[in-house]
Amino acid sequence: MAGKPLIVGNWKMNFTLPEAAAYVTKLKRRLAAQKGVEVVVCPGFLLLPSVAASLAKTEIRVGAQDVFYKEPGAFTGEVAAVQLEGLASYVIVGHSERRIYASESDREIAAKLAGAHLHQLTPILCVGETLHDYDEGLSARVVNDQLTAGLRELDGDEVAHTVIAYEPVWSIGTGKPCTPRMAGQMVEGIRRVIASLYTPEVAEQVRILYGGSVTHLNADLYLGLHGANGLLVGAASLELDDFTGIVRVAAGEEVPA
Ligand code: PGA
Repeated sequence: MAGKPLIVGNWKMNFTLPEAAAYVTKLKRRLAAQKGVEVVVCPGFLLLPSVAASLAKTEIRVGAQDVFYKEPGAFTGEVAAVQLEGLASYVIVGHSERRIYASESDREIAAKLAGAHLHQLTPILCVGETLHDYDEGLSARVVNDQLTAGLRELDGDEVAHTVIAYEPVWSIGTGKPCTPRMAGQMVEGIRRVIASLYTPEVAEQVRILYGGSVTHLNADLYLGLHGANGLLVGAASLELDDFTGIVRVAAGEEVPA
């Protein structure tokens, strides 16, 4: 794997302020000596300032779970990229739960990616097929289309500094992980699409994560995939033992089952 593995924990709509504070206090203690892995936690917006303050002097980075595609203005309930500056260094964009529950379109996703780059946030673009797409043999085509549409406002340099997460929707939160063989083929396919849309150099630089029912017990299977740079972790990131176990696996340590 080129560079440090990247392990991103997506807390989704979990944790109250006191719960988040207690979690990060323990997390930073446990990962204090961990230098070989880039660790990012993505709390909900409400939790961001306190989590960011608590992690300020550590190596653990903070990401947001979404961002709006417009600059500040009359957009009730939304959060602009500029408002995340200083609080987050990453932002998840186009997660399948937002595509499903907030009907997020590829056009909005493309604008969110552009806005994130404009405000020095590294976007993590999520792509992945539904169970129906998978059953119809459309996985590669769906991911190709999501990449083409999602990246279209970015130049090569911005794409090189974007993270792509391959997350088969049928595997998210279901306990049904994708086979490493298929995940590996999709990761290679993503790099090929980026090479054809941009250049082979851009495709080589972009970091690609796998996400979907990852735990400390299967993390090594995905971290070992050719061309994969790390993991996007949902449910297991809420369990301190599981999440720190995944980080330790990424660091190459032996982790008891
Ligand atoms: P999961 O979620 O690990 O709970 O499957 C992954 C994600 O949605 O990023």
